[in-house]
Amino acid sequence: MAKSSVRYVCQSCGADHGKWTGRCDACGAWNSIVEEATTESAPKGLSPGKGRRLEFFELAGAPLDSPRRASGIAEFDRVSGGGLVPGSTLLVGGDPGIGKSTLLLQVAARLAQSGCRAAYVSGEEAVDQVRLRAARLGLARAPVELAAATSIRDIVTSLDRPDGPELVVIDSIQTMFVDNLESAPGTVAQVRASAQELIRLARRRGACVLLVGHVTKEGLIAGPRVLEHMVDTVLYFEGERGHQFRILRAVKNRYGPTDEIGVFEMTDGGLMEVANPSALFLGEHAEDRETGAVSGACVFAGIEGTRPMLVEIQALIAPSAFAAPRRAVVGWDGGRLAMILAVLEARCGLALAGRDVYLNVAGGLRISEPAADLAVAAALLSSLTDRPLPPGTVVFGEIGLSGEVRAVSRTDARLKEAAKLGFSRALVPRRRAPGRGKAAAGETAGLEVEPIARLDELVARFESAEPARPALRDAGARR
Ligand code: TYD
Ligand code: MG
Repeated sequence: MAKSSVRYVCQSCGADHGKWTGRCDACGAWNSIVEEATTESAPKGLSPGKGRRLEFFELAGAPLDSPRRASGIAEFDRVSGGGLVPGSTLLVGGDPGIGKSTLLLQVAARLAQSGCRAAYVSGEEAVDQVRLRAARLGLARAPVELAAATSIRDIVTSLDRPDGPELVVIDSIQTMFVDNLESAPGTVAQVRASAQELIRLARRRGACVLLVGHVTKEGLIAGPRVLEHMVDTVLYFEGERGHQFRILRAVKNRYGPTDEIGVFEMTDGGLMEVANPSALFLGEHAEDRETGAVSGACVFAGIEGTRPMLVEIQALIAPSAFAAPRRAVVGWDGGRLAMILAVLEARCGLALAGRDVYLNVAGGLRISEPAADLAVAAALLSSLTDRPLPPGTVVFGEIGLSGEVRAVSRTDARLKEAAKLGFSRALVPRRRAPGRGKAAAGETAGLEVEPIARLDELVARFESAEPARPALRDAGARR
């Protein structure tokens, strides 16, 4: 029996369905399933003997010595694992308007200026629009070859030549199409086929291909998820709308680590590298350090990738007008907040049930480290008691369900970063804390380290602090 020539494909994850449904079983996206024509015929058995014999190699052979191409934009190079690998394909995903085109134009221009043959193919903007952008970025003189095209056949034909570009930017993969498929550009079939052709081009020519992929919530066009397994490196460009900061995060990298982030700031002149992100995410707190800190704020000494980074965590606890109090979190895990609130209630005897809790990570950063637990608890306690932390304090440590404060990795790096930025005290887990009082080694000198073994000790610290309001017990905050 002939196979049906129509299939229903989720544009978000690429799952194939036998019939149309409102919700994709595979990824849970709503209204993302689109009818696509298929040219697939029933599989036939392969007849052996017609194929080419493979050449097998030893694992121990010397790999081709192809140096990485570093763009000179340090934050981008860091996330890509030290530069672009020839023959590889890299996907940059992100919401529309986040700055993908700007970033990749900057990368292409910088590489072109350093002598690499670079081409920028835009399927979304006309040549003049890209020129205008380049002029605004001050990159108009960079020798980048520019084209506006959407046909993969034309693009591959133009680029597949011996003196072809070593770097190709395709902006965006969702606008590209191969003409032997009937589906519209942007569908899963087109996005996959187009990417496949470009990946082949990259391998054949030893060029780096950078693909732009829009993330869509509506699922009208295929998201970058359907490409993640095909390309070598996947970077996501993220940031809060209304914030200047943009974070480039590696999600997959066949040629480097995936825990690095690159921090940029969107300015009139394009994306600027932020070499010292700590200063950025400290909010206004840094200025308040001398005049007296505000309650509900706590500076967390975190690690992002290989870099230590100081981030301000803000909490607000207010009496709730509703039977079910609100718990709102920005930049951190809601489940983790619920856990810390539960530990504060069950192990430290605080009554939080009738109160709304809001938690925010300043600057639009998203923290996933459990080491932030103690800083979150400190911000919550500070808001609850309306007592600020002592000025110049950083906090880190993981909280266990029994209320113990557990050791975290890279204590020294965290302390060094804090000392470098002028902080004078640190609340740290007792285990592996580098001794009470003055820290022993080099740059951590001058940082007073206070070890904490249990969450109770942190609560007691706030109770004994200079009261700005009646003590916890009198205010009825304690059961
Ligand atoms: P863009 O790179 O076009 O985003 P994407 O390709 O991800 O859709 O960036 C669009 C936003 O960046 C737009 O809102 C304007 C802003 N922008 C600046 O603030 N400064 C600049 O120099 C440029 C080029 C863009
Ligand atoms: Mg764009």
